[in-house]
This record gives sequence, C-alpha cells and structure tokens, in this order.
Amino acid sequence: MPRDESTRLHVGIIMDGNGRWAEARGLPRVAGHTKGARRVSEIVTAAPDLGITHLTLYAFSTENWQRPVAEVQGLMRLFRGYILGKMDSLRAHDVRVRFIGMRHRVPAHLRQLMDLLEDKTRACRGLNLTIAIDYGGRDELTRALRDIAAQAAGGALAPETIGEAAVAEALDTRDLPDPDFIIRTSGECRVSNFLLWQATYAEYAFLKLPWPDFTPAVLAEAVEGYRGRHRRFGLIGAQASAARAVAES
Ligand code: FPP
Repeated sequence: MPRDESTRLHVGIIMDGNGRWAEARGLPRVAGHTKGARRVSEIVTAAPDLGITHLTLYAFSTENWQRPVAEVQGLMRLFRGYILGKMDSLRAHDVRVRFIGMRHRVPAHLRQLMDLLEDKTRACRGLNLTIAIDYGGRDELTRALRDIAAQAAGGALAPETIGEAAVAEALDTRDLPDPDFIIRTSGECRVSNFLLWQATYAEYAFLKLPWPDFTPAVLAEAVEGYRGRHRRFGLIGAQASAARAVAES
C-alpha cells in the first residue's frame, strides 16, 4: 500500500548494547561505539524512506558522565567526528538536526560544532533528526520547572494558568511532536530517563539485538510492527480514532 507522505511518524531510539557487542568480540568498548556510530549514519539515511519524519536518538545520558574517562572521551570524539564528517551530507539530504540535553557540560569544541550543525541545517525541511547528548528526562523536567517557577516569581506567569502546554513549551523538545514509537536495542526493558514527559502515549519495542547490529532492515521491520498496533491514547471508539488522526497529522 503506498504510504501517505503527509503523515508524521516520530521514532525514538535508545541505542543500547555497544559495550557488550565489543566485549563479546574481545574489543575495547569504544569499538562498539564506533560501529554504533556507523549504524547511526545508515539509520538516518534509511529513515525517510520508511515514512519516519522525526528521529530522536539517545546518544549520551546525564548518567553516562560517570563512565570511565577514556570511554567518555571516546564518545565525545565520535560525536565530533560524526558532526564534522556528516555536516555537508546532512544538509544536502535536507536533514534538520537538533540537539537536546544540557550541552554546557559538553566540551567547548564539540558544543560549538553542535551549534554550527543546528545553524547550518535550520532551513532543512526533510527528516527532523534530534540527538540527545547529556540528556536526561528528569533533568529536562527539572530545568523546565525551574524556568516556569522563575517566570511565575517574576510575575510573567500566573500559577493558575500553568497547564500541560506551558510545561511542554519549557522542555528541550518544544519544537517537536511527541514520539510515537520508541525502540530500545539490546534486550533491556526499561526507559532509562529518555523522553519521560513526551513518551506518555508512545508505543515501545524492546529488541534483543545490540545497537551495532541494528540495520535499516531491522528498523523497517520494527516500523511495520508499529504500524500494525492499535493506539488508543486512553480513549475508546471514535474518540480513539480521532486522537490517532491528530497524532499522525
Ligand atoms: C549504550 O550502549 C550506548 C551509548 C552510551 C552510546 C551511544 C552512542 C553511539 C551509538 C555512537 C555515536 C552516536 C552518534 C549520534 C554519532 P552501552 O555502552 O551502554 O552498551 P552496554 O549496555 O552493552 O554496555
């Protein structure tokens, strides 16, 4: 059946299992991340053909700073290499890149590249690629609440007018629709602080294979499975159908 190009599909991916993939082959953990970075490129290229309009990748959590220094540095190098290596082709393929997360703890040289990639792709209208670096859902909500509290204390916002829209507007994802479908690789069945507010009605798939083995064909199969699901958003009957239509528009 031909796909309706006007429908929106936001897929989030918790890219897990790089370390175990490497260790199973007697390689340093960073080798798993390197292979994982290659998969990122393949998945970004394949996503639009699968009808994915928004892709959000969990690349580095607020907790990941506690890993050994060599691994953290290896990951920062990979992020830098990805941005430098893909900047032109992302723009050429009309991919708009955003980063979510705290950012100020990221090394300055990488932060500048993140800003530059966002600037260079701001006018792109194809795939919306969001990369979560130094991101945690609790941290994001805490920052949002602090922001809202400051506005209320300054008199710019009356507490009784604060609703869900005001919270959503204060999050890093204010420009993005909520995720429809979240995939986690490598067999763990948990959400690990990813898009806690935004994923309220997301469908989940927990796949056994590690991220370095996650190919576009696996993504295609997962998306097909998602399309067969019946989302209800806590509603029934015609109301559920209407909510589905809104979510996809
Ligand atoms: C989790 O696997 C993965 C990470 C903490 C890093 C994800 C990073 C990449 C895929 C590489 C590059 C990304 C971009 C956007 C260029 P893990 O190390 O926790 O694996 P384990 O659970 O087997 O130890």
